[in-house]
Amino acid sequence: MASIYSRIIATGSALPERVVTNADLEKIVDTSDEWIRSRTGIGQRHIAADGETTGDLAFLAAQRALEAAGVKASELDLIVLGTTTPDIIFPSTACLVQHRLGANGCAAFDVNAACSGFVYALGVADKFIKSGQTKKALVIGAETLTRMVDWTERETCVLFGDGAGAVVLEASSEPGIHATCLHADGGFKELLYNPVGVSVGFKDEPNHGVRIRMSGREVFKVAVKTLDALVDETLKAAGMDESQLDWLIPHQANLRIIEATAKRLHMSMDQVIVTVDKHANTSSGSVPLALDYAVRSGKVQRGQNLLLEAFGGGFTWASALLRY
Ligand code: UT7
Repeated sequence: MASIYSRIIATGSALPERVVTNADLEKIVDTSDEWIRSRTGIGQRHIAADGETTGDLAFLAAQRALEAAGVKASELDLIVLGTTTPDIIFPSTACLVQHRLGANGCAAFDVNAACSGFVYALGVADKFIKSGQTKKALVIGAETLTRMVDWTERETCVLFGDGAGAVVLEASSEPGIHATCLHADGGFKELLYNPVGVSVGFKDEPNHGVRIRMSGREVFKVAVKTLDALVDETLKAAGMDESQLDWLIPHQANLRIIEATAKRLHMSMDQVIVTVDKHANTSSGSVPLALDYAVRSGKVQRGQNLLLEAFGGGFTWASALLRY
């Protein structure tokens, strides 16, 4: 029997209108444009307006991806949405987006893998397509992470932004996605987490204790080491070597982490898609936002090999090597 692959047929993305620059943050916390740029590569971030939700951004990104694909929402068999900031506890944001798109009836669910959410969702949808059960899937990464930011804490508030990206996947006899690798190690929970929730309960603190806790330096070290091993594993799983890669499309948390991965792959920064300067860290939104930028700006061309990777709270880490 011929192999089934999943292939990205189109991409889309959405960002909130409001832009907050490093200079704007200098006015609210003890920080500087120089510190933020030199330590992270971030110059600005988009922040959701009051009432603007993860689902709103996901819906827009999805609409744009479907339009670019020439696919009707009613043709979808599956929606997988990576997020750690769902609109409400349930139904899932995937269900909310499904209804707004008019894709009612297909399978729809969220994946919470923190910053690796989109790449996890892509890996899951790829397996559904490979099984023969799904012909067309919508994969979304969407976040309003700034809702979990403490704007008095300079260590974290400068790092994050809001946004969403989406891809339409289709079953194909040609690759497509060559390999996906998904991993997690819950032993690292204490280095990056948000300690409150429905079951544990909330705190009598501002924003009910909903606040990102991150040991930045430790996360940085583990991220670089883990991503090094991940890119090797992914190349091996795809039966390819680094010289066959055209683009690296990494999670956009920190330019120094991105540069370390590019160096490991012996790739020049001209072959790396960088959006962290404009978007900051949008968690699950980051990789699909970077991918959509790469496609729509004409950088990424059909037939090229792309390596997508991400690392985040959990810890989780994930990759996809695909022919666009
Ligand atoms: O997406 C999920 C995964 N997350 C990540 O990948 C994030 C990984 N970590 C990082 O990107 C970096 O560790 C950070 C950008 C968070 C921090 O950079 P760093 O080079 O590791 O800085 P640091 O935490 O070691 O802090 C250096 C100094 C400290 O001062 P002292 O102790 O040296 O006096 C901090 O208090 O910088 C200070 N600092 C700041 N100064 C100005 C921390 N935040 C700020 C700030 N502005 N916003």
